[in-house]
Amino acid sequence: MNANDIPSPASAAEAALPATMIPWRQSRYGAPDVMAAETVPVPTPGRDEVLVRFTAASINSGDVHIMRGDPRLVRLFFGLRRPRVRGRGIDLVGTIVARGDGVDGFAPGQRVVAGWRDTLAEYVAVPASRLSLLPDAVDPVTAAALPVAGNTAVTVLDACEVAAGSRVLVVGAGGGVGTLTVQLAADRGAEVWATCGARAEEVLRGLGAARTFDYRAVAVADLPGDHFDAVVDIAGETPLAVLRERLRAGGAVGLVGGEGGRVLGPIPRILRSMFARRGGRRFRPVTASTKADVTAGLLDLAAAGRLTPVIAATFPLTRAGEALAAVDAGRTVGKVVVTRD
Ligand SMILES: NC(=O)c1ccc[n+]([C@@H]2O[C@H](COP(=O)([O-])OP(=O)(O)OC[C@H]3O[C@@H](n4cnc5c(N)ncnc54)[C@H](OP(=O)(O)O)[C@@H]3O)[C@@H](O)[C@H]2O)c1
Repeated sequence: MNANDIPSPASAAEAALPATMIPWRQSRYGAPDVMAAETVPVPTPGRDEVLVRFTAASINSGDVHIMRGDPRLVRLFFGLRRPRVRGRGIDLVGTIVARGDGVDGFAPGQRVVAGWRDTLAEYVAVPASRLSLLPDAVDPVTAAALPVAGNTAVTVLDACEVAAGSRVLVVGAGGGVGTLTVQLAADRGAEVWATCGARAEEVLRGLGAARTFDYRAVAVADLPGDHFDAVVDIAGETPLAVLRERLRAGGAVGLVGGEGGRVLGPIPRILRSMFARRGGRRFRPVTASTKADVTAGLLDLAAAGRLTPVIAATFPLTRAGEALAAVDAGRTVGKVVVTRD
């Protein structure tokens, strides 16, 4: 055998791939017990895709909405009778074990972070365009918390032009999106006020919130009017006029969350917001999408110690259904993460 015959670590990893895996799948919409482990072939990466071996993924409210098909509008996009993509999971951290034709810049052995679909599985085929490299200084659980929730936080802070010296009110700051929004706003040099459940108040002050309020004791309407440059509404329960009145002239309300009605969800509220602008106070509805460059920026902040996601709980991949149930129950402070073991 000469040196050319010795398999590289990359090809050795490819050769070691099993034929099948046991991902979480659902064949109908419903509560977390619709999720079941099922044996399927390990996917083959297509053109411009890599195959990633799962290390960690966090659960997002979006996973739960698709799992339940709730609001009904979700079914128009994800499958009328049952979800077209049967696996849940959007965030992903793992190691590349194979690559399809046309992939440049990524190779087997690299640790990566992505926002994609069907990620609660031992192996996931992901377009290379969705990948960011995992810096050595960032642990996989931290990285797993960032793609959807972190992109949402960056998008809403950008939409509301939050910068050094801004005064920001985050309504519903204790969850996955809120804890990252508070940290990122404080990192930009904003003064951050936050409403949240009582359990989250101390956590949020530790993340940089100047003032926190238990939403069960203090209504948003009780907070100062004409005061904030930006209001980020994640809970989605406060009337639009009350949010708008918290702003000074020229400020913006970023609309992130809220369950809304069973059929259309938050859509009617978003449509009403288009006509609710008054006195230079405007509304900015935000839709989550994960962009590899934004995720890379978040990973850089984490590597520099400027962004530390709050991890509410971790579950092994073999118990991913319980992780979905924990987010479905909706009382988490920070993110729920699923790990390989
Ligand atoms: N627009 C987008 O692109 C986008 C992206 C991601 C998420 N979202 C939406 O954003 C919302 C939050 O997502 P998430 O993942 O951060 O949720 P989450 O992690 O489930 O947030 C739950 C947290 O919110 C707190 N909370 C509930 N009602 C509240 C209220 N009225 N005021 C203040 N705090 C309240 C809860 O506290 P207690 O436990 O004490 O009740 C809990 O700590 C969801 O509606 C989700 O669908 C939208």
